Amino acid sequence: MRLSNSYLSIPAVLLLQTARAIELDINSYSSIKTAAAQVAKDLADEFWDPRSYSGVPSTYFWWQHGALLGAYVDYWAMTGDDTYNDNVTVGWLKGVGPGLDLLPQEHSFDIGNDDQGFWSIMSMDAVERVFPETEAQKQIGAGFLEITQTVHNTQADRWDNETCGGGLRWQIVTVKNGYNYKNTISNGLYFQQSARLARYTGNKTYAEAAEMSYEWMRKTKLIQDDFWINDGADIPDCKAITSKRWTYNYGTILAGCAAMYNFTEGSKRAYWKEQLDGVLNSTYATFVDRDTGAIKEIQCQETDTCNADQRSFKAYLIRWMGYTAQVAPYTYSSIMQTIRKNAELAAATCTGQPGGTACGLKWNVGPQWDGKHGLGEQISAMEVIQNTAPSVAPVGYLFNKDNGGKSKSNPGGQGGTKRVKSPFDTKSTYYRYVLPNYNITGADRAGAAIITLLVIAGLGGIMAFVTTG
Ligand SMILES: *[C@@H]1O[C@H](CO)[C@@H](O)[C@H](O)[C@H]1NC(C)=O
Ligand SMILES: *[C@@H]1O[C@H](CO)[C@@H](O)[C@H](O)[C@H]1NC(C)=O
Ligand SMILES: *[C@@H]1O[C@H](CO)[C@@H](O)[C@H](O)[C@H]1NC(C)=O
Ligand SMILES: *[C@@H]1O[C@H](CO)[C@@H](O)[C@H](O)[C@H]1NC(C)=O
Ligand SMILES: *[C@@H]1O[C@H](CO)[C@@H](O)[C@H](O)[C@H]1NC(C)=O
Repeated sequence: MRLSNSYLSIPAVLLLQTARAIELDINSYSSIKTAAAQVAKDLADEFWDPRSYSGVPSTYFWWQHGALLGAYVDYWAMTGDDTYNDNVTVGWLKGVGPGLDLLPQEHSFDIGNDDQGFWSIMSMDAVERVFPETEAQKQIGAGFLEITQTVHNTQADRWDNETCGGGLRWQIVTVKNGYNYKNTISNGLYFQQSARLARYTGNKTYAEAAEMSYEWMRKTKLIQDDFWINDGADIPDCKAITSKRWTYNYGTILAGCAAMYNFTEGSKRAYWKEQLDGVLNSTYATFVDRDTGAIKEIQCQETDTCNADQRSFKAYLIRWMGYTAQVAPYTYSSIMQTIRKNAELAAATCTGQPGGTACGLKWNVGPQWDGKHGLGEQISAMEVIQNTAPSVAPVGYLFNKDNGGKSKSNPGGQGGTKRVKSPFDTKSTYYRYVLPNYNITGADRAGAAIITLLVIAGLGGIMAFVTTG
């Protein structure tokens, strides 16, 4: 954590503590840009170091760095401000890992399908927004589309028909508890990623993967017939369902349905419209507070029990509502009304410490800060404010390969992370990586030294076995 310059001197502190807030006129593009810039700056100054091990302070997990980079991709697309673009690239090259598959060795033990999925959804966003790619990035094969495709292929490979009749497991590493859980966020990100790849590339294979994963979630009732969405279910049969309701699960399903609606035609499009309407309705019914119109993380917000992950979930629901409004324009007016309302409510909470412009978690409490401060609160406020921009300016467009998309395609990408069977892990072929070395600053791939993770993987496996098993 680093202190921003603004509160190093005493007069500045006094000044800031007298009711500074974030002004927001949602009918003015320049006001939206100024407000988003303040929230983005507070987030970057305190919670982001793109060169560090995780990119975010140690109280947060690696996946949130990917989520945060996605917020800055949107920030650039919505405001035109490129202040953070170089750092997005730095953070991206760190996350992409030597195997060019979003499985960086530093985090090889703690990456689940959902963590990898959050990063790959960020890169899909960069593809559709045509976020600038650097020469160095292209030379090492770390363009946004090829990495998203590679992640798709690695996850398609992990699709598991042996339990629950299909689905992705939460964890990749077999000795972790979550290996026995098939959750909505892992599968929902795979669904959304496949659907967006289909929409962008026009390749039907991705659409088939999206259909298969969606049908599986409907069949297991992770997505109920009334479109309420559960958190996940235990193997072997997925009959034991965890019914907690989280905004980000609804959001990822919503965006996937919207992309499929956009990609398909005729009766298929009618089917996806019905799914999309159902999920959008249940999203409003579940999370939008009747009295204030505020989006609430109902599972934990009122009881003050949201953890560091959960405090950021609203950001992703809102990001994916914004995506939905663009690719399924018939939803635009209802979604934009909700986002604009919430942008005003959120901005009115941004009077917190440190700095006098920190945003709160509870948007339903009126113009006051609830004392909550963190990466989650900042990223949620940032997404909701910047996602109002398309209502007042010609921004937010999502391109495809035929109308402006530029990122290089590599549908066969498999990544450089080879799976080797581990003696510590009798259950599967996943884990144990052998990684080729690479140099992120340029084309210097000479040597192609092999770094092996066998030792780290083995030790990690034993430690996890002892602590969880
Ligand atoms: C971003 O990049 C600039 C210039 O390299 C650097 O000074 C700054 O600290 C970086 N970090 C963030 C979070 O903006
Ligand atoms: C898993 O089952 C689905 C649906 O029954 C099928 O389409 C798919 O090919 C199967 N995948 C594998 C790897 O067996
Ligand atoms: C969604 O809500 C609208 C408005 O309340 C309603 O007309 C529509 O039938 C609902 N759709 C579904 C699929 O539940
Ligand atoms: C698909 O998305 C594009 C881009 O946002 C939009 O212009 C188009 O109208 C969408 N198609 C449908 C059927 O809504
Ligand atoms: C479509 O995607 C599949 C799966 O990744 C790939 O095998 C195939 O080559 C792609 N087709 C085209 C025309 O790009």
